Amino acid sequence: MTPPSIPPAHGSTPPSPLDLGGRTALVTGAAGGIGRACALRLAAAGAKVRAVDRDAAGLESLAEHAQDLGGAVEPHVLDLTDLAAAEQAAADTDVLVNNAGLQLVRPLEEFPPDTFHTVLTVMLEAPFRLIRGALPHMYGQGWGRIVNVSSVHGLRASAFKSAYVAAKHGLEGLSKVAALEGASHGVTSNCVNPGYVRTPLVEKQLADQARAHGIPEERVLAEVMLQDSAVKRLIEPEEVAEAVAYLCTPQASFVTGTSLVIDGGWTAH
Ligand SMILES: NC(=O)c1ccc[n+]([C@@H]2O[C@H](COP(=O)([O-])OP(=O)(O)OC[C@H]3O[C@@H](n4cnc5c(N)ncnc54)[C@H](O)[C@@H]3O)[C@@H](O)[C@H]2O)c1
Repeated sequence: MTPPSIPPAHGSTPPSPLDLGGRTALVTGAAGGIGRACALRLAAAGAKVRAVDRDAAGLESLAEHAQDLGGAVEPHVLDLTDLAAAEQAAADTDVLVNNAGLQLVRPLEEFPPDTFHTVLTVMLEAPFRLIRGALPHMYGQGWGRIVNVSSVHGLRASAFKSAYVAAKHGLEGLSKVAALEGASHGVTSNCVNPGYVRTPLVEKQLADQARAHGIPEERVLAEVMLQDSAVKRLIEPEEVAEAVAYLCTPQASFVTGTSLVIDGGWTAH
């Protein structure tokens, strides 16, 4: 007897490399680390990338590097604490990658309130304003991709990171609401959640972590950062960029409102 035929999971779309030809992608925090890797990955897929950062020199170097590789990256110098400008910058964007971030490691009782406010502004309120600025165009064309670079700290807490953990947990909620509202307009919204990635943000926190935990700096990597990771290495920015790229593929069109964890097994505990 012939078994009943089962239709393919994603219609007739074969697996294919990412093609973002004709699309505009905005990446925040694109001057360095993960943002730079995302900008280069999306440019390699054919997108015109609007690279947003407050670091003008970093953006210039990114744009030159992208040009050498044949990609189109347009630098847009902007401090994301200027929320109105952030919202404006997101107009006419097809792919939005909310990535910019900063970190301060301090016990709660010593945490400066103005830094708490800045972290929440850049890492939660700016993504809200960027999404708000991007949605009219995405809804108008019935297609859009929002990728929020969250962290394991969007799902788990660590001591001494009150602002960062609060902002990332908030970003997870914002991302899910965008997924629910965007679904009927062809817009997906997801988080990617790396463990520790080899970037300046991590290098800069080695001394802070050593002081907060009362151990020498050379022990921070093994005893603090990689303690809960089953895979004992840092993640490379390009690995995170690949997860961001996956969420922009046609094969990921049913993936929304979720968190793609890339943590070497940290949250498996
Ligand atoms: N590095 C890690 O281990 C790690 C792990 C998980 C998640 N993340 C997240 O990945 C994202 C990128 O982190 P990274 O490690 O590449 O950091 P990074 O410090 O290398 O890059 C962050 C970028 O954000 C920019 N930025 C900061 N404040 C800004 C502002 N007010 N306006 C405009 N730009 C601003 C910086 O100039 C910088 O280019 C962050 O959201 C971070 O929380 C990082």
